Amino acid sequence: MGIRILGTGSYLPPRVVTNDEIAKSLDTSDEWIYSHTGIHSRHMAEGDDCTSTMAAKAAKAAMESAGVTPDEIGLIVLATSTPDYNPFPSTACVVQGLLGCKNAGAFDLQAACAGFVYALEQARGFVNFYPDKKALVIGAESLTRILDWTDRASCILFGDGAGAVVLGNDEPPGVASLKTKAHTILGADGLGSHFISRTGGCRDALPISPVTNVPEKPQPYLPVLTLKGHDVFVFAVKTLAKVASDLCTKLGTKPEEIDRVFAHQANGRIIEATARRMKLPLSKFWLNLETTANTSAASIPISLDQAVRAGELKEGMNIVMVGFGAGLTYGGTYCRWPEL
Ligand code: UT7
Repeated sequence: MGIRILGTGSYLPPRVVTNDEIAKSLDTSDEWIYSHTGIHSRHMAEGDDCTSTMAAKAAKAAMESAGVTPDEIGLIVLATSTPDYNPFPSTACVVQGLLGCKNAGAFDLQAACAGFVYALEQARGFVNFYPDKKALVIGAESLTRILDWTDRASCILFGDGAGAVVLGNDEPPGVASLKTKAHTILGADGLGSHFISRTGGCRDALPISPVTNVPEKPQPYLPVLTLKGHDVFVFAVKTLAKVASDLCTKLGTKPEEIDRVFAHQANGRIIEATARRMKLPLSKFWLNLETTANTSAASIPISLDQAVRAGELKEGMNIVMVGFGAGLTYGGTYCRWPEL
């Protein structure tokens, strides 16, 4: 059978923040937000809940549904733009400790909202060559912690949560990739790197002390997301449909043969435009952003898990997972569920 997704899991923190709640302290409204994005509410991590704890809850559910024990996991790849620390220790290592996956290597992967598709491809390569081990692929975000809650053009878009899948392979090393009918495209456009960014990296030199002529003691900083919404919107509309149609061309299939599209949940209008460009009915697109908002790298695995648990993602369905995000990055995978 080759490489397969053996199980899925997801976690959304219990606190729900509605548009009306945001509108109490910001010049916006439920009407504006819903009509421009399709979002009504989002989940927000509170207290000790953070990227690692949400990731661990989603991963535990995925391992349970896969019937896999922590000892069997050989690799954890965690896609996130909101790691517990910045950037080390990796959040994947924290999760490895929380889950007791003592035989697993662990690393974080940064490809923003396209991160899950990138992470899946890394893990697919791993289980292809180490079929005696399973891989955990997680997308997890606590985006509400990096938002400027006075910026109405960005803070209304995002929410927190985590999703995870477990990958396994029953072919000898290296064989599954030769037999696969799935295909993945990963891409980037670094010229758009200023469209979405998070402050607080090492790009800026430390101020030099006029007294000692060496750098002053670094100050702790709070990371904040900045967004050029319109530019990202245009990029997304062009890119999602192109990636999906390039996947079809590569596999010699037609878009109408796709049963379900799991597109990154950034904006309902982006998904509608993608459906129009692909000439597919919107009913083929999984939509949950009304209640989750944009959970970045977590959005595709949360959607997959919801579809599996609702009985709407069945064995043998042709599915496309497709995302885009800061970087700019994009990526898509076409597969016959749950084979990769
Ligand atoms: O995962 C990738 C992450 N990023 C994205 O996915 C972002 C993609 N972009 C978008 O989703 C849309 O561009 C937004 C939802 C961010 C903005 O929608 P838009 O239709 O592109 O609005 P706009 O930025 O062109 O702004 C139109 C007007 C402006 O007012 P003026 O200058 O025309 O008077 C904004 O100030 O809407 C105003 N506006 C708002 N008004 C009420 C912007 N945000 C809000 C708001 N409430 N929350």
